[in-house]
Amino acid sequence: MPRYARHLLDRQGPTNPFPGLKALERRLGRHIPHRLGSNEGLDMPHRALAARFGDEFAELARAYGDAEALGVRRRLSEALGTPLESLLVDAGADSLLALVLRATCGPGDPVIASAGTYPTFGYFAAGHGCRLSETAYRDAPGLLAPDLQALAERASRENAQLVYLANPDNPGGHLHDDAAILALRDALPETCTLLLDEAYHDFRRDAESPAAGAVWPGVIRLRTFSKAHGLAGLRIGYAIAEPEALAMLNRVRIHYAVSSLALAAAETVLDHPDETRDHVGMVIARRERLAARLRDLGSDVPPSDTNFIAVRLADADQAADIHRRLLDDGTLVHRPAHPALGHVLRISTLAAALEPGRLDALIDALGN
Ligand SMILES: Cc1ncc(COP(=O)(O)O)c(C=O)c1O
Repeated sequence: MPRYARHLLDRQGPTNPFPGLKALERRLGRHIPHRLGSNEGLDMPHRALAARFGDEFAELARAYGDAEALGVRRRLSEALGTPLESLLVDAGADSLLALVLRATCGPGDPVIASAGTYPTFGYFAAGHGCRLSETAYRDAPGLLAPDLQALAERASRENAQLVYLANPDNPGGHLHDDAAILALRDALPETCTLLLDEAYHDFRRDAESPAAGAVWPGVIRLRTFSKAHGLAGLRIGYAIAEPEALAMLNRVRIHYAVSSLALAAAETVLDHPDETRDHVGMVIARRERLAARLRDLGSDVPPSDTNFIAVRLADADQAADIHRRLLDDGTLVHRPAHPALGHVLRISTLAAALEPGRLDALIDALGN
């Protein structure tokens, strides 16, 4: 079985018809002052937009952005030590999940994930016509983790095209270290890609280690600006992978999926890393306080390397009951829809989670 979707292998294309003005300017080595070729509404006055959001917003809104996202990729390259050609920017990690499926799989191809993990992968895989096969979590007191051995065995048995792993995991919060990830990659079939969803990377203890930007053969690492950087509404994320893999993704990418505003916002937050660092530090401190408080009350809270904690309850009925009672009090926590993890509640460690009384329905249930 080839590593990429069969229909992409027997020809060079498809070729992006609109690489964009910025890419052309770079190729020519000069600015093109008169932009008469791409039918944008560059003369729209935007009085209303400018009044609401400011002139710069209106300016960004009028023109297509840089399809190659060079400004964001340069900053990431500098921060992570990742070569520029191993970075691809797209409209969030979700968009990248869909893109990887599009480039690596065709209808009927087998893909593997843990039963109850971030469900968007399975949703997109089904929509793409893939055959999803799921393995159980390692689920025991103090532990809620994707089972890497089971994923590898299933991938070999099914001769899978793709294995999806969220690391740190959602909803469990578990972090597998780099050695475990590389051992998983080595245990997969030769043509199987490991799709490593690192949406919560910035909250892991070793987020700034040199390996954070490493390019691992056979692995596509996904990151997002939605979590630690607070840009979920703008839709932007990136992939780290071998240039050959990114070239395949680029052949089927929606070239203007990332807005000019999202690119500018990501550049701005990357230019101010201390703000993100301080914020992440605060989130981690809150996470540890909340976990300790709930553990003191007898709750089972496995370690988390994310911006949330998972609470393992006795069974799905108890979790559903607490979930409903919290909602009655006006507080929404997350209960995974997958029946395999129906006994889990996931709580974002925002300041509100630590407010007195906020989680009383959970705390009362733990006391009973
Ligand atoms: C594991 C995981 N991957 C991807 C996403 C989505 O990220 P984005 O907003 O960049 O699409 C989330 C958001 O909850 C997530 O938990």
